[in-house]
Amino acid sequence: MLRPEDNELLCRTGPGTPMGELFRRFWLPALVPEELPGPDCDPVRLRLLGEDLVAFRDTGGRIGILDEKCPHRRASLYFGRNEECGLRCVYHGWKFDVDGNCVEMPNEPPETDYRGKVRMKAYPAAEWGGWIWVYMGPKDRQPPLPEFEWAMLAPEHRWQKKWHLRANYFQGFEGEIDTRHTTFLHRFADTSALSPGLAAAHGNWQKDGMPSIHIRPTDYGFYYGSQRGAADDGFNWRITQWILPSNSIIPHPEYPISSRAYIPIDDENSFVFGTSYNPEAPMTEEDRDYLETGLGAAPRTLPGGFTPEVNRDNGYRLDRDSQRAGNATGIPGVNNQDRAIVESMGPIADRENEHLGPSDAAIIAARRRLLGLARDLADGKEPLLPHNPAMFGVRAIDITTQNPDLDAVVELYSDKLRLPAARPFPS
Ligand code: FES
Ligand SMILES: [Fe+2]
Repeated sequence: MLRPEDNELLCRTGPGTPMGELFRRFWLPALVPEELPGPDCDPVRLRLLGEDLVAFRDTGGRIGILDEKCPHRRASLYFGRNEECGLRCVYHGWKFDVDGNCVEMPNEPPETDYRGKVRMKAYPAAEWGGWIWVYMGPKDRQPPLPEFEWAMLAPEHRWQKKWHLRANYFQGFEGEIDTRHTTFLHRFADTSALSPGLAAAHGNWQKDGMPSIHIRPTDYGFYYGSQRGAADDGFNWRITQWILPSNSIIPHPEYPISSRAYIPIDDENSFVFGTSYNPEAPMTEEDRDYLETGLGAAPRTLPGGFTPEVNRDNGYRLDRDSQRAGNATGIPGVNNQDRAIVESMGPIADRENEHLGPSDAAIIAARRRLLGLARDLADGKEPLLPHNPAMFGVRAIDITTQNPDLDAVVELYSDKLRLPAARPFPS
């Protein structure tokens, strides 16, 4: 269980909240580039960390992420005209550049110089690793962009998708670091429609529903090893990564690997930014086709948006006959199963009435760490991770070996895991 005040601290990320401040120390994925397809394209509304924003790409291709509301009389700039290096409010014509400077004020005489006195909220934005990112924190704390392994690869090595989760970010994220649910929630009677990587993982999950969990805290979050099986067949070790504040890297016995970021839209909604990637070879057409249409890591979304096709409004296509036939849920697709369960807890789970056991050790550790960092920041202690971009570059692995000791396995596979042991924080 979690005390209600800690649950509040963990889940609330609006302006001025301690967890919101922690999130505002990191670059966050915000948009897919197709939302801003080219110079002078249509502006889009964007809600992040409880703030209403508008994003646009100016005539020179620069990205602006501004307060949605015009500083004159608070009309929405979503209705604005994106023209000649700025976004013009259609109410009285004030125009703003990507840095939030008011560059034209046609309804006031120029001699008042009122224009020079008005600035609006504008956040730095960057295109990186297949997403458009935003930094919403203090200007003097702006870190470099995070060097996730997938962000450093050529685009052919990755496949990406953004979707909407109707729940608090941490609720979704808890599923990422909860390996034991895979045996139950993701049990399929027939695995022929799964990708080879997922089918192999499914076999391991079904062989042993009670893996032991071994957590190792790191400067970037933690990794844990879940150990399944017995020495005779080899132990299946899944080493999963948590990178602050809400990024996971989930391994599979075969590529691609999946990486996710859970980003708060507000306290009761999140965007999930999913990247599947193969660090060793470009993704094949078959990989892409499966990721687009298959039962795996990301949901299919309705045209023109980020709403999953299988969602609460259609009962997640729950089929009781399929459930009776041996599928755990009767819901099609791994991601739909995850989302149905996470959203079923309500927008913010009541953690005062939960009953955690030893199998929830990773979730307990992540909560403690995040709460500690948010409290530290509120006391003036800044997080170090954002300023060490190489730390984000770790990888998750899923391997089967006779070796029964996590630390020995980690040492043996240190090249593959890309652990940043030799990369100290800058002073
Ligand atoms: S409200 Fe935007 S210019 Fe007046
Ligand atoms: Fe899951």
